[in-house]
Amino acid sequence: MDLSHKLRPNQPIGIFDSGIGGLTVANALAKRLPEEQLIYFGDTAHLPYGDKSGDAIRYYSLKITKFLLEQEAKMIVVACNSASTAASRVLLEFFPDQAHFVNVVDPLVEAVVARNFKSVGIIATKATIHSGVYQRQLKQLQPDLEVFGLATPLLVPMIEEGYSESRISQPIIDNYLSDPGFANIDALLLACTHYPLVRKEIEAYFDGRVEVFDSTEVATEAAYNCLKENHLLSSRLEAPHQFYVSDHTPSFEATTRLFYGEEINLKHFPLW
Ligand code: DGL
Repeated sequence: MDLSHKLRPNQPIGIFDSGIGGLTVANALAKRLPEEQLIYFGDTAHLPYGDKSGDAIRYYSLKITKFLLEQEAKMIVVACNSASTAASRVLLEFFPDQAHFVNVVDPLVEAVVARNFKSVGIIATKATIHSGVYQRQLKQLQPDLEVFGLATPLLVPMIEEGYSESRISQPIIDNYLSDPGFANIDALLLACTHYPLVRKEIEAYFDGRVEVFDSTEVATEAAYNCLKENHLLSSRLEAPHQFYVSDHTPSFEATTRLFYGEEINLKHFPLW
């Protein structure tokens, strides 16, 4: 899409998620593209998206994207898997020619298909698995690929409560991964913002037999490539990153450190 007449390199990148999990992607973007200003919106008022209907997620995503475009975002990164699967298409339909869009599904699907595996597993929220989007996109690009998806809804609250690498997390992870659908997979997709935080435990379960993928790096690379191709890479950080949440509690502040890896200032923005 040629938007060169409308967009300038010094405009910010807008990024959103259902809450603070998308900060894993924001942090990767901030490290890979240190000259880019980020405007993050975490919809903590509606968290979790993983249990919501597609219609609800589309409605929230449209309103947040409108807000980020009003902040002059040149690119919208949909960091949430549940929002990427439910709303990617509708966002392009509602906001054609206004900004570049990057979601977390397409780059992950492309990275996996490039490796020509025989059988892959997906773990994600209920919304992501039941949308069937990952399964469809993988099969479209590689029809002979066997795909098995499993909703693993206990993982998000478990990780947010800080129970990674603990006596509680390993049995829950083992229980999900021992599903017979994963018996012969070559690769596993962690299709949720939170799961990179338990990646080590997941890898340990498979003991090197299964290659594990998450969206963070591939989505960051997709954002970089898109900006580069469109001559929209900023050469200098012109303003500090902004982190907005639609509801604010002290516990969100604490969880933030878990996901971003450093202290940030969350600002309450009552969008609803
Ligand atoms: N960010 C969501 C996702 O990646 C996980 C948390 C939620 O359910 O809202 O699907």
